[in-house]
Amino acid sequence: MSLGELSPQSCILGTGAYAPAQVLTNADLEQRVDTSDAWIRERTGIGERRVAASDEAASDMAKVAAQRALEAAGIQATDLDMIIVGTISADMPLPACAAFLQAKLGARQVPSFDVAAACAGFVYALSIGDQFIRTGMAKHVLVVGVELLSRVLNWEDRTTCVLFGDGAGAAVLGPASGDARVLSTRLYTDASLASSLCIPAGGSKEPLTAEGIEARRDKVHMVGQDIFKVAVKNLTSASRTALDDAGLTSTDVDWVVPHQANLRIISQVSQRLEIPMDRFIINIDRYGNTSSASIPMALDEGIRDGRVKPGQTVLMCALGAGISWASALARM
Ligand code: ACO
Repeated sequence: MSLGELSPQSCILGTGAYAPAQVLTNADLEQRVDTSDAWIRERTGIGERRVAASDEAASDMAKVAAQRALEAAGIQATDLDMIIVGTISADMPLPACAAFLQAKLGARQVPSFDVAAACAGFVYALSIGDQFIRTGMAKHVLVVGVELLSRVLNWEDRTTCVLFGDGAGAAVLGPASGDARVLSTRLYTDASLASSLCIPAGGSKEPLTAEGIEARRDKVHMVGQDIFKVAVKNLTSASRTALDDAGLTSTDVDWVVPHQANLRIISQVSQRLEIPMDRFIINIDRYGNTSSASIPMALDEGIRDGRVKPGQTVLMCALGAGISWASALARM
């Protein structure tokens, strides 16, 4: 019997997503840096991505996704007992994006906080929300992944600026009903690769200076190949562990909703898990890597277009800066 079967459980009551209107194509990027549509598609699977308007903040995007998730869940913002936002591009360093989101949604004075686990942020938030519902401390938890990475990219660095996009996704967790439930979640961090994916300046270690800004040390720096190798390995092992925890195997999975960082990573995870690519929900071609937003955006897309049906089993897995990675298994 898995741990989940021994305790009260949560389930995903509804999801929502938001993508800013402005589309930035690979052809547009060819005008900015020394790259090509062919390179970007072949190496990453990305065709275009969205960029937020100059007057949009992370909490604005999160608000739309959250409202759609609340509507799908059939509850009001005032019913929420907790708001957890996975983000590394909050409105400002202080306070949390979740605080602004609480105000914009008109929620009560419930605990509202951010989780800084980069691309794994949504799955971290989902797992934390699940724990609070399991212990009876909360009934309805809003979990959000939102990123406005276009603001923290070096648009002269072709090794990073072609990869990312802006977006938001949300899910409302509530008490398990019927077969629907979060079956298992697993969270991990390995700091040994922290410097392979980071924003070096702007924190307490290296406060922003004019020289730091000039050197773009306030923007995302990544050694892509370091991350690629561990991504395939860790996403596979975390997925297997989530399945083991729930007493399930790959054949029980109806849909995999992976973090959308690179189509080649997803393809290698598919091979290792022996789950065919046609059971993966993939939208990296249209949105690029939206970090913590990628899983809830893809999950919402799969639910709304009818691929993900009630009663089906969905495996989520993500890895990002930290490096932090996570997996979650849910029956819808
Ligand atoms: N256009 C054209 N050429 C490029 C570009 C570009 N945009 N970017 C890099 N290149 C060049 C490089 O300079 C290099 O040239 P060289 O051989 O002359 O030196 C060549 O292409 C190959 O570069 P690699 O870095 O080896 O390319 P790779 O196949 O590894 O792909 C990529 C790079 C896409 C970044 C890949 O490594 C990757 O996806 N890594 C994982 C990213 C990830 O999962 N991140 C975690 C989530 S993000 C987060 O947490 C915020």
